[in-house]
Amino acid sequence: MKLSNCGPLLKDPSYKRRCFCNLISAAALLCIISFVGSAFVTIDIKEKISAWGAANSMQTNQTNSKAKLNLQIAQSNLCKSQCNPAGSEPLPKGIITKTSNFEMQPLWDSPERKKISARRAANSVQTNQTNSKAKLNLQTTQSNLCKSQCKPAGSELLPKGIISQTSNFEMQPLWGSPETKGKTKPSKSLLAIPVGRKQKRVVSQIVEKFPSNNFTIMLFHYDGVVDEWSDLQWSDSALHISAINQTKWWFAKRFLHPDIVAEYNYIFLWDEDLEVENFHPLRYLSIIQREGLEISQPALDTAKSEVHYGITARRRKGDVHRRMYKFRGSGRCYKNSTAPPCTGWVEMMAPVFSRAAWRCTWHMIQNDLIHAWGLDMKLGYCAQGDRSKKVGVVDREYIVHKGISSLGGFDENKQNMDSPSGASQTKPSNFKKVVHHRSSTLKDRYAVRKQSYFELDLFRKRWQKAVTEDKCWIDPYPELSKNSTQ
Ligand SMILES: *[C@@H]1O[C@H](CO)[C@@H](O)[C@H](O)[C@H]1NC(C)=O
Ligand SMILES: *[C@@H]1O[C@H](CO)[C@@H](O)[C@H](O)[C@H]1NC(C)=O
Ligand SMILES: *[C@@H]1O[C@H](CO)[C@@H](O)[C@H](O)[C@H]1NC(C)=O
Ligand SMILES: *[C@@H]1O[C@H](CO)[C@@H](O)[C@H](O)[C@H]1NC(C)=O
Ligand SMILES: *[C@@H]1O[C@H](CO)[C@@H](O)[C@H](O)[C@H]1NC(C)=O
Repeated sequence: MKLSNCGPLLKDPSYKRRCFCNLISAAALLCIISFVGSAFVTIDIKEKISAWGAANSMQTNQTNSKAKLNLQIAQSNLCKSQCNPAGSEPLPKGIITKTSNFEMQPLWDSPERKKISARRAANSVQTNQTNSKAKLNLQTTQSNLCKSQCKPAGSELLPKGIISQTSNFEMQPLWGSPETKGKTKPSKSLLAIPVGRKQKRVVSQIVEKFPSNNFTIMLFHYDGVVDEWSDLQWSDSALHISAINQTKWWFAKRFLHPDIVAEYNYIFLWDEDLEVENFHPLRYLSIIQREGLEISQPALDTAKSEVHYGITARRRKGDVHRRMYKFRGSGRCYKNSTAPPCTGWVEMMAPVFSRAAWRCTWHMIQNDLIHAWGLDMKLGYCAQGDRSKKVGVVDREYIVHKGISSLGGFDENKQNMDSPSGASQTKPSNFKKVVHHRSSTLKDRYAVRKQSYFELDLFRKRWQKAVTEDKCWIDPYPELSKNSTQ
């Protein structure tokens, strides 16, 4: 400490000597310390020298990764204050879609029109940014002390204990004390299916497989028909949501907000055209829990299903698999492949999400991209760890994918028109309409397909932009962004 006083005093010779002395003694002390220190180090080195020789390359890699780590820490300190919505941390900021609305979306639309409306929205947001900036300044000065709390947006005015941040779909009695009633909260999962009346029988078979003690059922009626389901025994205990011509992802974004479904262990977000003869929900749950699968799907019975990707095909050995092999043609997959769809990937017709994985995935679903093409390839970012371990296909419990198209459909399949389950597109009572409808259905399908590809392209571009713009985000799968597979 005294040394620091020396500078200005050095001009005075009498002080000079004293300071010099101090310097000498300090230097001696430092010498002793460093000698003792180096003695320890030498011993240390002697002990480790042979090990170093062997693991030389590892050592250099360790220093590398240490530097990387330091960088990461520095970066994360800078980025900590961002207060991203809970669960969205694995995603680059620009792709996070925090809010939604109930505006219905057309199944197809000209890209130009969409772009224009998007630009308009961006403009109005721009003008409001200055306003909110002033507000932000006020807020930051106000809450220096409480900054780290990261309360849910809008709840800052309330004392913390009264904030009910999450909810559920459990129905409540009109009377009876809630305190005595809800003693032990049942541990439940959620099954959500978009349905049309034409698939009523198949859907009923699915729902009946899911024990009501363990699952809450939610139906999205995309054809607007709810009444025709009321004769089913389970109908009254299910939740029915109706919005005409809306897709699974439109519904999911609007009605499965992670705070609302926070109490469900797993979210089954399934299509309606699945056969569940060989599927047992509770056994499935116990397998994915044991295997640590955060995102999964039941395997497809290859004899009866439309199989689009090899990884979904059922294997006869074992309970689960997490990768596929393809040694020929395009899109090859080897043991060393690390990217979807070779590994870390499931198809979107029968996905099952853990609570945490869904919380992340919901943020990635875009409000306007209702067919959600491209989302599947990025799901691994929400896998709560290594996607090649946390994403998988369950072979032991498996389903049949009938490939019946709904809403203009994603699969072309002749089954559609004469399916025994009444999957024809119109009521058989009106034959003329049926004939007419067939061709218009094909046209619709084409339009939906086109729109889906358009969305795929848009989603990829958004992802790329989000990645380049978010300096706080570190890509855990960097090779993907380089040669962006599919
Ligand atoms: C060290 O790192 C380099 C590049 O990051 C890598 O190619 C090499 O295999 C690593 N060596 C060891 C022993 O991990
Ligand atoms: C912008 O702010 C004004 C006033 O605060 C509000 O009336 C308007 O709805 C806002 N627009 C958007 C797009 O948020
Ligand atoms: C299913 O529900 C029953 C009855 O409430 C319960 O005993 C059981 O633990 C539940 N199983 C799972 C996997 O949640
Ligand atoms: C819903 O879509 C079908 C098929 O594309 C179409 O015929 C029908 O008019 C649409 N309904 C509404 C209300 O838009
Ligand atoms: C992965 O394995 C295949 C075949 O075994 C090989 O051709 C390819 O070069 C390997 N890729 C990497 C990145 O190691």
